[in-house]
Amino acid sequence: MPTDYVNPLRDPRDKRLPRIAGPSGIVIFGVTGDLSRKKLMPAIYDLANRGLLPPGFALVGFARRDWANEDFSKVVHDAVREYARTPFSEEVWRHLAEGFRFVQGSFGDDDAFDTLAATLADLDRVRGTGGNHAFYFSIPPGAFPVVLQQLRRSGLADPHGDEWRRVVIEKPFGHDLASAQELNGIVNDVFPSESVFRIDHYLGKETVQNLLALRFANQLYEPIWNANYVDHVQITMAEDIGIGGRAGYYDGIGAARDVIQNHLLQLLALTAMEEPVSFSPAQLRTEKVKVLSAVRLPADLSASTARGQYAGGWQGGQKVIGYLQEEGISRSSTTETYAAVKLLVDTRRWAGVPFYLRTGKRLGKRVTEIAVVFKRAPHLPFSYTDTEELGSNALVIRVQPDEGVTIRFGSKVPGPAMEVRDVNMDFSYGQSFTEASPEAYERLILDVLLGEPSLFPQDEEVELSWRILDPVEAHWARQRGGVDQYVSGTWGPASADAMMARDGRTWRRP
Ligand code: BG6
Repeated sequence: MPTDYVNPLRDPRDKRLPRIAGPSGIVIFGVTGDLSRKKLMPAIYDLANRGLLPPGFALVGFARRDWANEDFSKVVHDAVREYARTPFSEEVWRHLAEGFRFVQGSFGDDDAFDTLAATLADLDRVRGTGGNHAFYFSIPPGAFPVVLQQLRRSGLADPHGDEWRRVVIEKPFGHDLASAQELNGIVNDVFPSESVFRIDHYLGKETVQNLLALRFANQLYEPIWNANYVDHVQITMAEDIGIGGRAGYYDGIGAARDVIQNHLLQLLALTAMEEPVSFSPAQLRTEKVKVLSAVRLPADLSASTARGQYAGGWQGGQKVIGYLQEEGISRSSTTETYAAVKLLVDTRRWAGVPFYLRTGKRLGKRVTEIAVVFKRAPHLPFSYTDTEELGSNALVIRVQPDEGVTIRFGSKVPGPAMEVRDVNMDFSYGQSFTEASPEAYERLILDVLLGEPSLFPQDEEVELSWRILDPVEAHWARQRGGVDQYVSGTWGPASADAMMARDGRTWRRP
């Protein structure tokens, strides 16, 4: 074990104490991919820098590249320098990098997995990883069976004594209910369900966790959080970027499978669920499962869904190309880059309250928010002209990028008349707290090492989400005439506005 490690646990009042991972290591499959470089490697460094990783921590990359340990270390170094959130510390880096190893091989190669097993055993000895290893699958689902089978064959899936072995799975978790069930079967055949950590990185975001604090730590909102007061809920995840270099992944998948099936339905679940008996993983899951089971699609899917594909346009002063012109995309692709869907939640709390979910690439700006829009006051003792500029009250959870909460309500305009107009009351993380929010992946990787499953959707949640989305996908697949285009930099296709207009509502323009 290296000797120059400074134990960060000096102050017994240090709140980090219970959240520091024990001896352990992570093996990343798909380590040469974008996710690994932009998110995983920086997050691991940031955790180390915050003193949350144990001295005996190891990171092993597995890929086909002909790299030595030093080459791998250089790749991680460059990724950390470019994308890490916290400042670079030579000392932290040096200690962390002593635990880096690279194993070359393809997934079908028995020898490579035997080398991996030998490498991990060696790390247990020289680095003190204690036989505790997480296998991070940043690979296409098609590769899961062979990697799982290799982990089983090489004995890597079987911990001895107090050791643990966990598997971390990136989305997409299947492309419909049947494939998700099949995948769950394959994974559960090798790892018990408590060792399976499915990543939905939205659940690792501070603002998403704050939804639970907002709802269940306060008295203010609960009495009005129901169909008596709420008119509807809009959940928006808008991106200004296009598909970048992800044509291979994205085409044929589309916005609904990429984002609604996981991130947006999880946001819906946290917004709509009942108070859990406790925040134990099982209780949280019970409530999320209950609400996802109660989600219903309206009968007429033509009227209650919309989809579109970005055409060329202007974004941030730059001319951008359309989806069909992106490299690697077939000119006749009907994959949607924008999706909107109206859902109902059949519970006493939410009866008749629509939840509108929308997501899209190359929209007006990058913003994710949950807007709870309230009914108008039943009676307004003002003249019509005095309230012409009064909208509906709304509570908006700003997930990103300007994290916080906004309450919109009517206020008197200064002056002699009783004119009422919408104003905003804002809470902003940046102003209220000095510490910056950790990246979602920091939180989630640490939770994997700690064996804390609360923020990881279980198989049942994943399957229920596909159950909700499958009929929409089937409906779109039956539609003739292709997919609507929308100009890059706008707020999506006209059909999405028409979908809201049919209900007498409009989308928010965040
Ligand atoms: C991913 C999607 O899950 O989330 C991407 O696959 C999307 O298409 C990304 O760009 C957005 O994440 P974030 O954290 O930047 O909102």
